[in-house]
Amino acid sequence: MRYAIAALLLGGLLTGCAKGSQSSAAASASAAAANNPASASDGGAVYVANCSSCHQTNGQGVPGAFPPLAGNPTVSGNPIAVIAIVKNGLDGRVVVNGQTYSGIMPRWRGVLSDEQIASVITYIRSSWKNNASGVSVTQVQAVK
Ligand code: HEC
Repeated sequence: MRYAIAALLLGGLLTGCAKGSQSSAAASASAAAANNPASASDGGAVYVANCSSCHQTNGQGVPGAFPPLAGNPTVSGNPIAVIAIVKNGLDGRVVVNGQTYSGIMPRWRGVLSDEQIASVITYIRSSWKNNASGVSVTQVQAVK
């Protein structure tokens, strides 16, 4: 939504230019937005609404039940693996910092939009001293 508004504003700013270039400028602005890492601040709201009940607002999870996302090497590791977990859910055994979890993580595909998934993953990778790269909508779309 924000990106669409940004693209519209940009289109408006360019009204003075040759008419034909307007729509292509807007189109390339939204394509650039999709390729850039999503906003962590948008992701914070998605996190509080959808993830914090299990993983807690401080990202520490609940020992033995819900794994921590703070200080979790998987969360800060390969972004494609994190996207796959969030999109498709996880039902297996994970070991985080020596503690085993064998719960069920719901799938978020179809519940959250690709934009929301990108921003929430950017958020969890850059919060609570985690310091990993953000993910883009394009990356989320590419994971089936
Ligand atoms: C109903 C509780 C619940 C909710 C809500 C939930 N999760 Fe999870 N999550 C889990 C459980 C349980 C696991 C571990 C699954 C397992 O043991 O196989 C997990 C695992 C994960 C992992 C993988 C951790 C690892 O070390 O492999 C990530 C990443 C993750 N969740 C992110 C999220 C995000 C982002 C949200 C919100 C969009 C979310 N979770 C919402 C319960 C939840």
